[in-house]
Amino acid sequence: MKVDVLLGLQWGDEGKGKIVDVLAEHYDVIARFQGGPNAGHSLEFNNIKHVLHTIPSGIFRPGVINLIGNGVVIDPVIFADEIGKLKAMGVQPEKTLYISKKAHLILPTHRILDAASEAAKGKTKIGSTLKGIGPTYMDKTGRNGLRIGDILTPNFAEKYAFLTNKHKDILRQYSYDYNLSEYEAQWMHGIEVIKSMMLVDSEYEINQHLENNKTILAEGAQGSLLDIDFGSYPFVTSSNTVCAGACTGLGIAPNRVGEVFGIFKAYCTRVGSGPFPTEQENETGEQIRKLGAEFGATTGRPRRCGWLDLVALKYTIMLNGVTQLIMTKADVLDSFDTIKVAVAYKVNGKETQQLPYDIEAKIEPIYKDFKGWKTPIAAIHKVGDLPHELMEYVKFIEAETKVPVTIISVGPDRDATIYQH
Ligand code: GDP
Ligand code: IMO
Ligand code: MG
Repeated sequence: MKVDVLLGLQWGDEGKGKIVDVLAEHYDVIARFQGGPNAGHSLEFNNIKHVLHTIPSGIFRPGVINLIGNGVVIDPVIFADEIGKLKAMGVQPEKTLYISKKAHLILPTHRILDAASEAAKGKTKIGSTLKGIGPTYMDKTGRNGLRIGDILTPNFAEKYAFLTNKHKDILRQYSYDYNLSEYEAQWMHGIEVIKSMMLVDSEYEINQHLENNKTILAEGAQGSLLDIDFGSYPFVTSSNTVCAGACTGLGIAPNRVGEVFGIFKAYCTRVGSGPFPTEQENETGEQIRKLGAEFGATTGRPRRCGWLDLVALKYTIMLNGVTQLIMTKADVLDSFDTIKVAVAYKVNGKETQQLPYDIEAKIEPIYKDFKGWKTPIAAIHKVGDLPHELMEYVKFIEAETKVPVTIISVGPDRDATIYQH
């Protein structure tokens, strides 16, 4: 058996949570492989709306095993809150949720370091979610981090104090005011909640599932354009969000990867700072934000909005080896007369199909116009019933990317999902 991977092809918030929840009924295991509670994955079904940050989006599917892999970073406070909310809804996460002992812990001081670093950067700030992601991955690669397995060791308190003191020293250099005690108390409670879960050597678990012919879907967080290596550095997150991250973040060999589902919105959004060539800082952007309810699921920040960017999409399809495309939020464009798609860039007056290395480079997108379908599509269930203008748009994307669009999502609910091909 193979591990299928679902990941975002843009700057995050493509609708990964919704689609993983939809697909989860066909899988035995759903596994998160990178990122942490910077993610906000929204799900809607039976009039329930729910946002997950750390826990995989298969948690609502009875019988499905959910795994938090070694590549993930966990904040015990946010995790405990997620568990509490699930239990209140009648879900029993302690029965189906496994956590890698090698996943790293976000300490209260990691969050403070994130905030202090952003404050010190002023105008050049990343626009991070302030969840402590950057400092935690820094400690991971710097070989200072604390891992889930550490909480089971007798000298955990000592390890915690050692790293926290190190952080306090760094914070002195920032002259940043903070109060640790309240969050620290919640954090220690969160550690107890984590202890009540199944803590495992997840690389063995997942490979055993493969041996037992179980079907596995790896759930990406963030988007490929936020990848630490391939995104618009430094305006990126701190993990490998591309498909290769599923191998290192779960302990599966590259030849075990099966289908790669690449998910993208029918337009683009971005939260935080950094280049966004097709951004519409005008009435069009406002309309997309309003109609698409484009406000962050984690931070509530308004998302920057713009047209679909095929140069960027082809780049992320290349990096990930995408075998199937999933287009979400087509319904948000129902009322537009014209829909634009960037088909090339002009960089310093020269036409190109590549993203420039220089993030300061002035990019002028070259657009192709499509006629809007001007009809509501949210209640449509069959691909044959979709307006032909929308299908022209989809066919153009398929022809340009050479990858089939196998799912078109027309609303946030599980049911608003149309299969093609
Ligand atoms: P994720 O981080 O990739 O899981 O995406 P988010 O949950 O942060 O943001 C996607 C938002 O769009 C959520 O509010 C979803 O409920 C919503 N959504 C997902 N698919 C669709 C769709 O096809 N149409 C509409 N209108 N909303 C959608
Ligand atoms: P999901 O999984 C959208 C962005 C932040 C910021 C940059 C770095 O819901 O798609 P970080 O907190 O990681 O240090 O922030 O990355 N970012 C996201 N944007 N969706 C996300 O996750 C994001 N996670 C991080 O806004 O620009
Ligand atoms: Mg999100």
